[in-house]
Amino acid sequence: MIRYRFGQSDLLRTRFAIAPLMELIGAVYALRDPARYLVHRPWAEWARPRTEHLDLYQLHWPDGGRIPVEETWAAMAGLVDDGLVRFIGVSNFDRDLIERCQAIRHVDSLQQEFSMLELRDRDLIRWCGEQGTGVLSYSPLAFGLLTGAIGPESRFDREDVRAGRDEGSLFAPGTRERNLAVVGSLRPVAERLGITLAQRALAWNVHQPGVTAAIAGSRNPDHVRSNAAAGDVELDDATLSELDAIVSRAAPA
Ligand SMILES: NC(=O)c1ccc[n+]([C@@H]2O[C@H](COP(=O)([O-])OP(=O)(O)OC[C@H]3O[C@@H](n4cnc5c(N)ncnc54)[C@H](OP(=O)(O)O)[C@@H]3O)[C@@H](O)[C@H]2O)c1
Repeated sequence: MIRYRFGQSDLLRTRFAIAPLMELIGAVYALRDPARYLVHRPWAEWARPRTEHLDLYQLHWPDGGRIPVEETWAAMAGLVDDGLVRFIGVSNFDRDLIERCQAIRHVDSLQQEFSMLELRDRDLIRWCGEQGTGVLSYSPLAFGLLTGAIGPESRFDREDVRAGRDEGSLFAPGTRERNLAVVGSLRPVAERLGITLAQRALAWNVHQPGVTAAIAGSRNPDHVRSNAAAGDVELDDATLSELDAIVSRAAPA
């Protein structure tokens, strides 16, 4: 069972564990130029030994205002100027933050949670498409809910986000039941099209205005192969409207 926890990075956790002295030295540099340090440290520690440049480098989360986003974004733009990175993007940003970045340099990509059960950023994603900002939908399978693999009886560890302890979660009491009902209504459409529930969810995702790609997580090679085939699924306008009518029931009341 995969356990989902936000705010942790395997890469950084490993680095913190083996290099506490480097962290201490780094912290001194961080005090002098925090934004530049934040964007250069992962590059120096991880990327440089492995590749000449990164194709896409994204800022994972806004930092809650500790460092003005303009400073961080300017430092990321510096990585492009230095030839270390080709494109730069953000994740979990709202329109206001993206516009503040755009004033400095184009935002090439947005990685945002977006699925048939998580529609909150639909307008933002459409707008990004109009700006020439590519959008990568994350958790497009709603953490597995949209695949049919999770039912009313499924139980998760307390620390797993799917335990539904967070009120705004897709798995919060009440919300989870409503979402499972929506998944049940979506099932006949997938059956009619001769595709799996996961393929239908991914195909729907990449057909949405603004979406460039959907990043599905899996530790199962068969799932990965089957999910990849969703890229070849064409959904016509009538099917998209039908699916939209069903998923609109998932929106919070
Ligand atoms: N930018 C951010 O802040 C952020 C936050 C969260 C996630 N992400 C990214 O988004 C990616 C995907 O999100 P996610 O993994 O959270 O959620 P997801 O892709 O919506 O769902 C993953 C879950 O669906 C199951 N699954 C996948 N394909 C399946 C299939 N064909 N049949 C049955 N079950 C299937 C997986 O189990 P199996 O392993 O059994 O297939 C896993 O439990 C992650 O890899 C991560 O890189 C980014």
